[in-house]
Amino acid sequence: MEIFLDSSNLDEVKKWVQEGVIDGVTTNPTIMYKDGVRDVEGCIRGICEALGERPVSVEVTSNDHEEMLQQSRAFANWSPRVVIKIPIVNQDGLSSLSVINKLTNQNIAVNATAILSFNQAVLATKAGATYVSIFAGRIADEGNDPAVTIRNVRSWLDMWGYTAKIIVGSIRGVIDVQAAALAGAHVVTVPPQFLPKMVDHKYARETVRQFNEDATKVADQIARAKTAGAD
Ligand code: E4P
Repeated sequence: MEIFLDSSNLDEVKKWVQEGVIDGVTTNPTIMYKDGVRDVEGCIRGICEALGERPVSVEVTSNDHEEMLQQSRAFANWSPRVVIKIPIVNQDGLSSLSVINKLTNQNIAVNATAILSFNQAVLATKAGATYVSIFAGRIADEGNDPAVTIRNVRSWLDMWGYTAKIIVGSIRGVIDVQAAALAGAHVVTVPPQFLPKMVDHKYARETVRQFNEDATKVADQIARAKTAGAD
């Protein structure tokens, strides 16, 4: 399974690349707004540079299909690692499948985003999306179990041999990462604030503290034995 960072914060990207656990980055306009991004192109180019060969998802910001295509072509020029996020429908419920299909046919990788149902994932895959982003937290907001959707989409992809990868986003807590991983996500995109919580554990700290204290005791023991031998 891959882990992406759901962030536009370059410092966080660099930090987690250094930790060796990041396989890519996803962004969206809300994340950029919260991260205080002032230069979208500069931000994405910086993240691409930090990530090397790994993919970076950038979302279109228009409700109009023609404009989505224009933006996508411009974003794709920033780096060959840029993957274009196209919402499965626009805000009026108009299908974006044709946009996904056109970009795919132009060899521009698409991350079909804002996916909340099995059928949306199926159609995005059929249209050629490289990634289908299932929004776990938002599925749960509606009273449904995201694990069921993730598991069903994964079974369907495997059953028919499709190569689209499931990204599970909209992560609201550490338990969501675990649930998505076990339900069959190919990728979980994690907001940076959850990664330290995934690493740390108070009993792990206590265990290491005990080992460190006992290592000191062993060193004292050895020193005492040497002194006794010399006497
Ligand atoms: C990632 O690709 C998504 O855009 C993001 O995880 C959405 O998260 P949210 O539902 O918390 O806005």
